[in-house]
Amino acid sequence: MNEYYAGVKMLTFPKMNNGGFIEVEGLKDVPFEIKRIFYIFGKGNVGTVRGKHSNRKSEFVLYNIKGKSKVKTIDEDRNEVVYELNEPNQGIYLPKMVWKEMYDFTEDSVLMVLTNEYYDSGEYIRNFDDFVTEMKKLGEK
Ligand code: TYD
Repeated sequence: MNEYYAGVKMLTFPKMNNGGFIEVEGLKDVPFEIKRIFYIFGKGNVGTVRGKHSNRKSEFVLYNIKGKSKVKTIDEDRNEVVYELNEPNQGIYLPKMVWKEMYDFTEDSVLMVLTNEYYDSGEYIRNFDDFVTEMKKLGEK
């Protein structure tokens, strides 16, 4: 397993106020300074697969503040691991370069995404073969 995939891990955020309040702090609860958040929600996502890319700079934390979804990581040897997001205080941390796919969204799913970078389409690898080539090159360095 390469260093990027070795860094994938589930995170648990502290619950406060009898469990009805969740706090997420940059560099404390997630391993980066948070520069951008976005969320993926709505019935239109049911049955779709989102993501399907790797990022050269961005790291992410994804968690379902409502409903459920799944995140699949695929490495350059096509090994797949599936993570279920179904708790508002449990997220998955994805280091840069990790290929990810989000799917199995429930109708009520609200998937929160935190990241360390502003949006830059140029740092996305959207073709799986290109991703494999870049990963093999990184492995040779
Ligand atoms: P995309 O990365 O394909 O979304 P997902 O990973 O959820 O499948 O992005 C969808 C569109 O939204 C695409 O046109 C780029 C744009 N976008 C932004 O403008 N800002 C963002 O922060 C993100 C994630 C996407």
